[in-house]
Amino acid sequence: MPVKIAPSILTADFGRLTEQIEEAERAGVDLIHLDVMDGTFVPNISFGPRVVAAVREATTLELEVHMMVAEPERYVADFAEAGADVITVHAEATRHPHRAVQLIKERGKKAGLAINPGTPLGAFEPLLPDLELALLLSVNPGFGGQAYLPGATERLRGLLKLRDALSPACSLEVDGGVKADNIAMIAAAGADIVVVGSALYNQRPVEENLAALRSEI
Ligand code: DX5
Ligand code: ZN
Repeated sequence: MPVKIAPSILTADFGRLTEQIEEAERAGVDLIHLDVMDGTFVPNISFGPRVVAAVREATTLELEVHMMVAEPERYVADFAEAGADVITVHAEATRHPHRAVQLIKERGKKAGLAINPGTPLGAFEPLLPDLELALLLSVNPGFGGQAYLPGATERLRGLLKLRDALSPACSLEVDGGVKADNIAMIAAAGADIVVVGSALYNQRPVEENLAALRSEI
């Protein structure tokens, strides 16, 4: 299966957000990645459940909410109600990652766990069998448009081994700095899904940017 492409709307035009979502859907993206930032876990603030609900109205594609939020347990129910299909929390953002994952599942949603570039891969191990998604950050989270950290590829290879051994049905997703010139390498290293923000929502129409990415894989 070719790697799936998930647009991050972080660098989209928020003044015409639903239009930008529809544009991505028409162009043929596989799902939508929504970056929620709280100004505490990461230095930036983005949007909350009401924007997720507006996106839910605009598309039938799967919605993945990437919660860059301290103590994410506090908001899992809100994002579930807003229409998220997958809810991803950061291992570093909670004292109780296992409890957070259980909460997501109790709401009937797919559970994702994310880790930052400085966090050992071992953080995934105890939870992998319960996860539908393992999200590896390839930039320090907080901003779109950053450069891919080269060390992420070796980490992805390591995570692939863990996933194959412990949880074969769990998807591996890479987030940050994915572009036409590295997407093939990231797919070859084992990513099932890549998040693409600035390389999809920049000068050219989404359709052209997506075609350029797909032509590499
Ligand atoms: C980083 C976010 C990403 C990121 C993607 O904090 O989780 O989803 O903004 O954007 P690009 O592709 O521009 O790195
Ligand atoms: Zn993200």
